[in-house]
Amino acid sequence: MKTSRPKSPSRPQPSPQRKGTKKSGKAKLWGGRFESKTDALVESFTASIGFDCRLYEYDIEGSVAHCKTLQRAKVLSARESQTIIKGLYHIREDIRAGRHKWKTEDEDVHMSIERRLTQLIGPLGGKLHTGRSRNDQITLDLRLFLRDTLQHLQQDLCRLQQSLVTLAERYKDVMMPGYTHLQRAQPVLFAHHALAYVEMVERDKSRLHDALVRINVMPLGSGALAGTNYPIDRHYTAALLKFPKITQNSLDAVSDRDYVIEVLSGSAILMMHLSRLSEELILWSSQEFQFVDLPDGFCTGSSMMPQKKNPDIPELIRGKTGRVYGHLFSLLTTVKGLPLSYNRDLQEDKEPLFDSIDTVTTSVKIYAELLAQLTVRQEPMAKAVSEGFLLATELADYLVQQGIPFRESHHIVGKLVGECIAKGKDLFDLTQQDLFKASSSFDSQAFHILTPGAAISQKNVIGGTASAQVASQIKAWKTRLRSKSKSSNKKKKAT
Ligand code: ARG
Repeated sequence: MKTSRPKSPSRPQPSPQRKGTKKSGKAKLWGGRFESKTDALVESFTASIGFDCRLYEYDIEGSVAHCKTLQRAKVLSARESQTIIKGLYHIREDIRAGRHKWKTEDEDVHMSIERRLTQLIGPLGGKLHTGRSRNDQITLDLRLFLRDTLQHLQQDLCRLQQSLVTLAERYKDVMMPGYTHLQRAQPVLFAHHALAYVEMVERDKSRLHDALVRINVMPLGSGALAGTNYPIDRHYTAALLKFPKITQNSLDAVSDRDYVIEVLSGSAILMMHLSRLSEELILWSSQEFQFVDLPDGFCTGSSMMPQKKNPDIPELIRGKTGRVYGHLFSLLTTVKGLPLSYNRDLQEDKEPLFDSIDTVTTSVKIYAELLAQLTVRQEPMAKAVSEGFLLATELADYLVQQGIPFRESHHIVGKLVGECIAKGKDLFDLTQQDLFKASSSFDSQAFHILTPGAAISQKNVIGGTASAQVASQIKAWKTRLRSKSKSSNKKKKAT
């Protein structure tokens, strides 16, 4: 499996405007049965080369494996196969160096490379496509692309988790209000809040990783739809390309895009998590909250209002979530009405996929950096945690300890809160006498539990916000992420 990301090739040059003419269409690789040239508008309408050119590394990798398979099946001689492979590597070098000419009239990455191959090595180049169709070729390219891309995304997600864990550790004693309904609810540690996102990202990683099981299946040999006449060893092709499995039904293989939809779905869920984080950072950096300071390098100013420091990055990530959701729906809708097997509609899978992958990858990378530089403002958080009746549940739980059923204690404390609100007081302002009046089960000890720190330390259950629990979560995540990054470094070295 590759680890280096292929550079995006330069965009194809649109061919000079040509009108559809009566001349022969034989210049196309598929042009044999055509009398006249393709209409210029149709040419640019059908072309996918503008975006599928980024698959060139995978297309060539697949072609090399196909060529070796044809040789093994004695469809190509060893010499022929060597010449073709040399030609393919030559083209790869040209593309990497920006020397290859991407032309709209070539239609897609597959035909662009094949045409160039024939230019380079002559008619022998035409033998490469024996027993293969662009229909099985494109799904192979996509599978190779996704295998590679998802591996990189896993590493970026680990980095994001590392930033969150480091942030949690840096501010491990900071308390803040925990919210439900965006109303202050109970005190929690800021670190606990940060680690909630580490959990979400872990599930995102595992969802995308699961998709790999279905992506990692080799489709070549399916031909256009029915399989191939040539005695090729599909397991051999799979082994060359490091696929553990091969597809079992050619009609399904050329028309299945559910693996792309899975990736789009995993991406949409991941963006949903990043969007929730964005929403919090936007709120928290507002004058109203003042819980955090976003790093200057990740904010922008206003062209008119000199005082402004705007949270554009979280806003854009929240905004871009919409387009990633849209891509999921666009492909679900594209595929839903397609009869078996391949239909050209399927070409519409690539732009949503590429845009989602690019959006998700950039968002994850930016957040890994931004969070590493985030400043948490402890004072406004401490102030917020000391107001707003966050300890009401603690008082109710105290009464439960004295033997009062929770429903009753809830009611007693609720009444107390109501009285405080009416008098413009907080729970901290209550006297021993006030408490005793509310319930004779309140004794002097009740005051000791009326601190945010005490409330937090009481939540000493696995998954709770008590310092000891949070500290052990931080430790566990650090070990887990360290061993992940060690194993991915090892893999990098091995490839
Ligand atoms: N560019 C096409 C796609 O993305 C490749 C397959 C074309 N197949 C065909 N029969 N026209 O789906």
